[in-house]
Amino acid sequence: MSNQEAHPNVRTVASTQSEKTEIVLPNDTNMLGHLLGGRLMHFIDLTAAMAAYRHARTNVVTAAMDHIDFIRPVRLGDLVTLKSSVNRAFTSSMELGVKVWAENTRTGEVAHVASAYLVFVAMDEQGHVQRVPQVKPETPDEMRRYDDALRRREHRERESARRKEAKLAVAALAGAEEKR
Ligand SMILES: CC(C)(COP(=O)(O)OP(=O)(O)OC[C@H]1O[C@@H](n2cnc3c(N)ncnc32)[C@H](O)[C@@H]1OP(=O)(O)O)[C@@H](O)C(=O)NCCC(=O)NCCS
Repeated sequence: MSNQEAHPNVRTVASTQSEKTEIVLPNDTNMLGHLLGGRLMHFIDLTAAMAAYRHARTNVVTAAMDHIDFIRPVRLGDLVTLKSSVNRAFTSSMELGVKVWAENTRTGEVAHVASAYLVFVAMDEQGHVQRVPQVKPETPDEMRRYDDALRRREHRERESARRKEAKLAVAALAGAEEKR
């Protein structure tokens, strides 16, 4: 494969789709026999990373995990399946979506239990941020997620600016107190 083919400027969402299945063991659960939220977040991070690697084809780091809905508990012995894909790429960052299902191994019942959005950033070997290919949404669902990803990025940027302003205001207040 030529370098151009290995690193195209545009990739499809389908080419990034990734999947992972885990069985919930006693070590993964709380006193109620429910999967720990932190353990599920770890599975979510790993599954998102798979899609991010498939999109960027370089090193990636988690920059943000900004929205997780835990819809219902996952129980000891359930099979947890996570599916991820890239929603949209920006310059060096990409938003990934992860959806999680639990399967009761006795009854075969499958339920959607969680969803999350994460941002990953691509990096070169020296740890400098690196450009990523753009995403080509092909289906109506992919186009909806592509549009929504931009809205979520704008929301993240507004929140980050608001937090920075609040920090500066607190620092200015503390400085004024010290001078008194
Ligand atoms: C993520 C990280 C590389 C960003 O570094 P930075 O100096 O802010 O880089 P930049 O300002 O050049 O931003 C690079 C990209 O990251 C995005 N970004 C940075 N911080 C972000 C955040 N908190 N949430 C979402 N996106 C973020 C920027 O929007 C930008 O995207 P774009 O290039 O597509 O426009 C840096 O904060 C980092 O290394 N964090 C630690 C990552 C880590 O250790 N993760 C856990 C283990 S994998």
